[in-house]
Amino acid sequence: MIQKKRDGNGLKSEEIQFIIKGYTDGTIPDYQMSALTMAIYFQGMTEQERADLTMAMVESGDQIDLAKIKGIKVDKHSTGGVGDTTTLVLGPLVASVGVPVAKMSGRGLGHTGGTIDKLEAVSGFHVEIENEEFIQLVNQNKIAVIGQSGNLTPADKKLYSLRDVTATVNSIPLIASSIMSKKIAAGADAVVLDVKTGAGAFMKKIDDSRELAQAMVRIGNNVGRKTMAVISDMSQPLGFAIGNALEVKEAIDTLKGVGPDDLTELCLTLGSHMVFVGGKAESLSEARTLLEESIKSGRALETFKVFLASQGGDASVVDDPERLPQAKYIYELEAKSDGYVSEIIADEVGTAAMLLGAGRATKESVIDLAVGLVLKKKIGDQVKTGDSLLTIYSNFSDVTEVRNKLYNSITISEQKVDAPVLIHEEITE
Ligand code: URA
Ligand code: CA
Repeated sequence: MIQKKRDGNGLKSEEIQFIIKGYTDGTIPDYQMSALTMAIYFQGMTEQERADLTMAMVESGDQIDLAKIKGIKVDKHSTGGVGDTTTLVLGPLVASVGVPVAKMSGRGLGHTGGTIDKLEAVSGFHVEIENEEFIQLVNQNKIAVIGQSGNLTPADKKLYSLRDVTATVNSIPLIASSIMSKKIAAGADAVVLDVKTGAGAFMKKIDDSRELAQAMVRIGNNVGRKTMAVISDMSQPLGFAIGNALEVKEAIDTLKGVGPDDLTELCLTLGSHMVFVGGKAESLSEARTLLEESIKSGRALETFKVFLASQGGDASVVDDPERLPQAKYIYELEAKSDGYVSEIIADEVGTAAMLLGAGRATKESVIDLAVGLVLKKKIGDQVKTGDSLLTIYSNFSDVTEVRNKLYNSITISEQKVDAPVLIHEEITE
């Protein structure tokens, strides 16, 4: 089978199942799997092979059964980025118009915490709930979040670690099947993908982002899960806030209709697809109207409160965000010249937030929920010397290192610069 793939021939369904089963149970060793992934890296995979690989990985471990939840379970996945507050907003937003959100979430490494870390900035909120309670909460409130449990896609875990050390992460068929297998094992009937593009994204070039988006959309649709993708900008951080409690506050603002324009627009775009595929609207424009009305009427915000309270959280933070963890020191990063913001290197800004303690550098790191950054200017904005470019929220008094890093990651140019396009493409087949 390694030889077949090396020579550019296709693998049959049974062969892919045999490989994934053998690799999961250890009868196929790492060295053979390494050779195969390298062959796949160079030869690619057909649409059928990609679908077969995805389902073989889904079947390598537990699968979450959401059958007891009424309605079409639509999951959303973002391919990463900096300060991406969309999940916090989208959950309550689409739930408020009747789309069930049954979210399994993790902590993970990165610039900020995962969705669970962010939500834990709300005092008392917890995700250690039993499956039955989880299902009952989704039926009752249309939204609940549970921590990762069970043995989901063990084949992907093993394969991803192997790819990491064999220079085979960057293969479209392998990335696409890896991501889709996790969504399907977690019980999604339909998947809306937010594929990021630009300097702060996993895929920096639009052509690569499109190829990945198309690959995932095809896999999903070929295995009977309606899937679509939005390609969105990550040339600078999304929204203003990067940090856990700060992003909860930003999500509250957005659900109130006073959030950052880019975050609001992306949430309405992704949310419209979720509502449409969830069968709660006849068209994307009707779906968008429903979501806009839910923000205006306060229903989206109310759904967020009920969700927080149902999982032990202090829902009064919604009306009184001062109750969220607060940093001891607040500093402004002042512009050193007049002009226009022309670049905000998302990765670097994210790393600065991590240095403050907003994210985990290693699995053992402890997150400081209060700290992070709030941008005051985005690409295209005019600035004068002394204007605040962003606010630093820290629990250390000395932020010299963070300051220097931030100055190196933000460029001010003399020429006027356009704001980047936010939504590049929407891919539905
Ligand atoms: N993210 C994943 O989950 N899998 C990949 O292969 C790459 C990115
Ligand atoms: Ca943000």
